[in-house]
Amino acid sequence: MWGRSHAERVKSQNGITTLLTTQTETISLLDLAWVRSQFPALSQTVNGQPAVFLDGPGGTQVPQRVIDAISRYLRHDNANSGGAYPTSRNTDAMIAAARAAMADFLGCDADEIVFGPNMTTLTYAMSRSIGRELKAGDEIVLTHLDHDANVSPWRALEERGVTVRMADIHEEDCTLNLHDLSHKITNRTKLVAVGYASNAVGTINDVHTIVQLAHESGALAYIDAVHYAPHGPIDVRALDCDFLVCSTYKFFGPHMGVLYGKREHLQRLHPYKIRANTNAIPNRWEWGTLNHECIAGIAACVDYLADLGRHVNPSVSPRRAAVLAAYAAIRRHEHELMTSLIRGLLQIPGLKLYGIQDPSRFDQRCPTVAVRINGFTPLQLATRLGERGIFTWDGNYYALNLTERLDVEKDGGFLRIGLAHYNTGEEVERLLCALKQIVGA
Ligand SMILES: Cc1ncc(COP(=O)(O)O)c(C=O)c1O
Repeated sequence: MWGRSHAERVKSQNGITTLLTTQTETISLLDLAWVRSQFPALSQTVNGQPAVFLDGPGGTQVPQRVIDAISRYLRHDNANSGGAYPTSRNTDAMIAAARAAMADFLGCDADEIVFGPNMTTLTYAMSRSIGRELKAGDEIVLTHLDHDANVSPWRALEERGVTVRMADIHEEDCTLNLHDLSHKITNRTKLVAVGYASNAVGTINDVHTIVQLAHESGALAYIDAVHYAPHGPIDVRALDCDFLVCSTYKFFGPHMGVLYGKREHLQRLHPYKIRANTNAIPNRWEWGTLNHECIAGIAACVDYLADLGRHVNPSVSPRRAAVLAAYAAIRRHEHELMTSLIRGLLQIPGLKLYGIQDPSRFDQRCPTVAVRINGFTPLQLATRLGERGIFTWDGNYYALNLTERLDVEKDGGFLRIGLAHYNTGEEVERLLCALKQIVGA
């Protein structure tokens, strides 16, 4: 990621602002006015003040086109799938289109995309199926940095005699201890489950290396990309992971989960399923009637990201390339906001920030920041910010292994400030001023 010293802003003929870097690469800047105009919820007010949504890690806002796609489906095509009449055929076509959109988003084929209610449910289902092949003495490696949805479904296999080993963290910057992780992976390891990024402290893990380590020992690699997905591009083929899960409500879509599975695994493993359901992939992994209206919203949310990419860089056209262009601009914008946020937070007396603080390492973290402030519980801080129209979160956000490991669980966890690409520098300033006011700085 390029700092300002390396770059200069220029306006091109089409009015799109770009950064010319000292390298040959150019990165288009986000057109924040355009971005914000897409999200109707951002114009809400609280007690006469514009609402500031810093709660993205819990779920992001959605663009108008997602809302429209959901209601359009319910108005025009609402039907069960597989019927011999127009609305049902339209439903089947819509689901196929949404699979193709998610395949472009993740860089795979459409038949490797499984829809489900959320990441947790999909992971429980997959852990049960993988667990059918495991026996006593087999091992699974998990991490202290992960959300419990990538821990408990695997721990459930302990009842089959499987041993779970937890990889530790470096406490000082809340990064994964890769040395420890690599020692915990042995020839008994059958699966390594790890998050792409921490939903609590923002650390981005070196998942590429972790997948390689897993594969060297013949283990499967299961990646929880729920927190990473709104902040960076995902390429499951380049990662070579066996499974990757994400939740569309964290990246500007509806409340749904999506699982990518390598075709060979989706074909070979045995899902728990009813007889009437097909044996063809990916549908054999989807039970009962899906949430069709939300699936319509998923296609719209990927198309929003693609249009954002085309907006910042009109030279890209295919959907996958456009999504990648969007993420280049998103990362750059979030990097700038994160730098001001962390710099400002560190000036607040009594504040402790958990996670990477060194700006030269900010490409190893998401703009999700966990803090505690002496004399205040995270709940008190979140409540007072909420009264001022600033939405943050408090507690453990289910990253229970981490709050226990850092010994903050008993004291209310952290205050989490989560930036998304639709946030502004003014909003960061408002948060910093409000926090200073609350703590009397
Ligand atoms: C990193 C991470 N993993 C998993 C989950 C669980 O996702 P879902 O709500 O889709 O089950 C969350 C939700 O906050 C999360 O942040």
